[in-house]
Amino acid sequence: MNFLFQKLDINLQNILGNLNQDVRTLELPHFEEYFADVNIKTINNLLYKKYKIDYFPNNVNLTKISPPGVGVHTDAFNVTINVYLNARNSVTTFYRELSEDSSTIITKKNTKGEFQIKVYDEEKLEVISRIKTKPGEILLFNSSVPHSVAIPPSEPDRLIFRITWDSKYSYQDIYNNFNKISS
Ligand SMILES: [Fe+2]
Repeated sequence: MNFLFQKLDINLQNILGNLNQDVRTLELPHFEEYFADVNIKTINNLLYKKYKIDYFPNNVNLTKISPPGVGVHTDAFNVTINVYLNARNSVTTFYRELSEDSSTIITKKNTKGEFQIKVYDEEKLEVISRIKTKPGEILLFNSSVPHSVAIPPSEPDRLIFRITWDSKYSYQDIYNNFNKISS
């Protein structure tokens, strides 16, 4: 298995028509989140139809990252479906921690309350994988592994529609749920 990401084959075209950037829920340097007016139940029905999952995501948002991108971090949730809307030349890099003191916990606040992310000292990490995502691509993404995003200065802001699970679930839980062998 791939412990970092898995390509998913779901058609969200009809659902994503109404995305806009009217209501910002989080603003950090080069990183913003927006309220997405998308019904999570419709998405869960689609996921169940295709993958028969039992653990359902409970949140969606539109994420915008602007050049030059964001440094190494882990998100407030462990697992997300990333729908890359316009990412052409941006690169996501995954890292392995070389020492236990490589990260700092930071508390942030969005419209729903406080949450914690970790930021990492790049000198105490080793690159394990790099991916370039294409527009329209959909990945089940392990956001509990340290990762960074680099966007060339000539690129437009990178928009991702994100479908996230509560942090009580690990990537492994959700990956196994997507890949369980039906008997
Ligand atoms: Fe992230």
